[in-house]
Amino acid sequence: MKEFILGLPKVELHLHIEGSLEPELLFKIAERNQIDIPYDSPEALRQAYQFEDLQSFLDIYYQGAHALHTEQDFYDLTWAYLERCKLDNVIHTEIFFDPQTHTDRGIAFDTVINGIYNALLDGEKSFGISSNIIACFLRHLSQESAIETLESILKHQDKITGVGLDSSEAGNPPEKFKYAFQLAKQAGLKTVAHAGEEGPAQNIIDAIDMLKVSRVDHGVRCVEDEDLVKQLINNKMALTVCPLSNIKLRVFNDMSQHNIVDLLRRGVTVTINSDDPAYFGGYMTDNFMAVNQSHKMTKSELTQLTINAIEASFISEELKDKYR
Ligand code: HPA
Ligand code: ZN
Repeated sequence: MKEFILGLPKVELHLHIEGSLEPELLFKIAERNQIDIPYDSPEALRQAYQFEDLQSFLDIYYQGAHALHTEQDFYDLTWAYLERCKLDNVIHTEIFFDPQTHTDRGIAFDTVINGIYNALLDGEKSFGISSNIIACFLRHLSQESAIETLESILKHQDKITGVGLDSSEAGNPPEKFKYAFQLAKQAGLKTVAHAGEEGPAQNIIDAIDMLKVSRVDHGVRCVEDEDLVKQLINNKMALTVCPLSNIKLRVFNDMSQHNIVDLLRRGVTVTINSDDPAYFGGYMTDNFMAVNQSHKMTKSELTQLTINAIEASFISEELKDKYR
C-alpha cells in the first residue's frame, strides 16, 4: 500500500506556508538575517516541538515565522515546500499565509506575497504543480485589522484567490469577522475558515452561514451535531482534515480514534492535508500513511480522498477536467 499511496496524485487544500518552515531552513534564514535562535541546533529545536493544544503550538509557530524578513526568505520557504510536494506527488496545492504575522512587525505585504508567488510560478514551470494562494486573517486580532489587511489583499487580487481565518479558535468565533468576510466576498474572493478544530460544532454552522465559506478547515467536531453532518453530506461541503496535526494538538488521543475514515464512509467530502508539516511531523504522504495504518482503507477510498480534494479546490473547470 505504501507504493500506492506514494504514487497517488494528491491535492493539498490546507497548508500554512509558515508552518512548512523546517528547523534546518529556519537556522539558515536566521543566520543570514542575524537573528539569534535560543537552540543549539535544528535537532534541538525539533525536540522542542511538543504541544499540549493549539495555543501552545501557535506560540512557537509565530516565533519561527518571525525569522522571515526578505522576499528571498519567503521564496526559499515556499520553494522548499514545493520540493516536498514533488516527492509526494502533489499535483495542486492551495496554500495559506498569515499577512498580519509579518505586517505587524514591519514587513511589507508586497515582500511576503511576491516571495511566495514567484516561488509558486517557478514551481509550476519546473514541477508542473498548479497552485492558489489564500490569505488568512488572524482571529485573535480585531475585525478592523482584518479589514485593513483585506485592503492589501485586494491590491494583489491577481495573485490571491481567497481569504481564510486561522489562529486561536476558542473565544474568537466566526461571527467576529462577518463584515470582513462580506467585504471579501463582494470583491470576488473565495472564503474558507478554520472551524470545529478546537471550537464547537456551532462554529462550523456559523462559518457556513455567516462567512459563506466554500469549505471548512478541520471541521472534525461536526460529529457533535448529527443534523450538521447530514447537512454537510447533502451540500457536499468539504472538510480539509489534517490528521497528524489533530494528533499533535490533541484534538484526538491517537490516530485510531480519528473520525476521518468514518466521515468518508458516511459520504462527507473529507480531504487529507498536512497543515503545518514542519511542526507536526509529516507532509501529505505521511498523513495518508498514518491514517491508512490505523484504519485499513481500500485503494478506492484512498483515491476518493484525492477526488474530493479536486472537486473542493478552487481550480478552473478546465483544469479540474484534466485532473479528474
Ligand atoms: N489552527 C489554527 N491556526 C493555525 C493552524 C491551525 O492548525 N496552523 C497555523 N495557524
Ligand atoms: Zn490550519
